[in-house]
Amino acid sequence: MNVNVVLVGHVDHGKSTLIGRLLYDSESLMGERVEEIQKLAEEYKRKFEFAYFLDSFEDELKEERTIDTVSLMFKSKKNYYTITDVPGHKEFIKNMLTGASHADVAVLVVSAEEGVQEQTRRHMFLLKMLGIRQVFVVVNKMDAVGYKSEQFETVKSQIGMLLNSFGFKTEVFIPISAMDGDNVYRKCEVMDWYKGPTLIETLDGVKLSSDEKPLRFVVQDIYSVDSERIIAGRVESGRLQKGAEVIFEPSGTKGEIERIIVFDADLEEAEAGDSIGVVITAGDVKRGDVFGLLKRPPKPVNEFLGEAVLLDKSMRKGETLELRCGTAKVACKIKEIKEKINSETGQVIGERPEEIYEHDAATIVFATEPVVVEKFADIPELGRFVLVKADKNIGAGVVLN
Ligand code: GTP
Ligand code: MG
Repeated sequence: MNVNVVLVGHVDHGKSTLIGRLLYDSESLMGERVEEIQKLAEEYKRKFEFAYFLDSFEDELKEERTIDTVSLMFKSKKNYYTITDVPGHKEFIKNMLTGASHADVAVLVVSAEEGVQEQTRRHMFLLKMLGIRQVFVVVNKMDAVGYKSEQFETVKSQIGMLLNSFGFKTEVFIPISAMDGDNVYRKCEVMDWYKGPTLIETLDGVKLSSDEKPLRFVVQDIYSVDSERIIAGRVESGRLQKGAEVIFEPSGTKGEIERIIVFDADLEEAEAGDSIGVVITAGDVKRGDVFGLLKRPPKPVNEFLGEAVLLDKSMRKGETLELRCGTAKVACKIKEIKEKINSETGQVIGERPEEIYEHDAATIVFATEPVVVEKFADIPELGRFVLVKADKNIGAGVVLN
């Protein structure tokens, strides 16, 4: 199974260090890279820090990426993980949104020394808005507070109250030291007062959306290998069997699944979360299409009601932006702004405004080119979208109706 994890938290609470630790302990780093960075650290006569791993990857990755968040892969005994590091600073909230809109679960990193900080509330609102239902809390830097359970409990209850006020039912709070690797991959003997799971055990226990949902497959790429056309993408919900009859929307193409491929093996079936390639009988298909079973097909829409939060610039009634959902990119017109909402409290603060600004949230009627979206409540994976204006991600939201 592939699980997309987004890491959020206040600046300097240890997100990069935690990613470095996860990569290191899962042995997803090449030996050379480890030595190289250890040497570098020695040269600077500084303590060897896991954040260095990430920073050196960052430079490489940045060149190729259009968005400024960084995603890295690692593998546990059970799952493949894509983990996205989201900078904690205020100005980077919009990056967080882009990262979070692809995430199945969030890990909130809170420093045991500092506890809840200013940005934590807004992060919560955004996570909730994007429908990330599973939030795991790691209380980091336990080494710096002498591994004391009292300090952990204090931060835990502080964060627990905040999460509750946003409607999250989070039961997982893990005391860790990202620096030393305590309770990340390895249980920590010093904190024997903690009886719960490690972070990796928690992540390995994640269950993604259930199989009873209709099949939805998002097309990412189409390429040819030995005269076979392979359609690569991800099963966002439901289950796909070889031989299934499917329909691609908005293209309207129908076909039968001849092969399901992962790496170089053939599968009989695939499930939610699987990134696969499929081979189908002829027909026109393009990136941005979504296919489902012929008997429970995806329906393209040209209008829907959404709730969005604006993180940059402004948005006017009548204006045309770009909407991205799954891999689809379509033109979308702001047909009507119904209610303006305070993004920190969730309260309605205006009816039918002509324009909204940075940090406002709103319920909006969007008129779009034909595109497959789903109600967030039904299929969250296709119920989230990002709004783009002049090549910048300016906001994100969920499909209400
Ligand atoms: P930004 O990317 O700036 O938002 O910060 P971040 O959340 O990625 O934090 P980062 O991983 O860069 O860590 C910030 C500082 O905290 C660094 O100096 C780390 O060495 C330190 N740190 C991280 N984890 C731990 C830990 O478990 N214990 C202690 N004592 N320090 C830690
Ligand atoms: Mg960082």
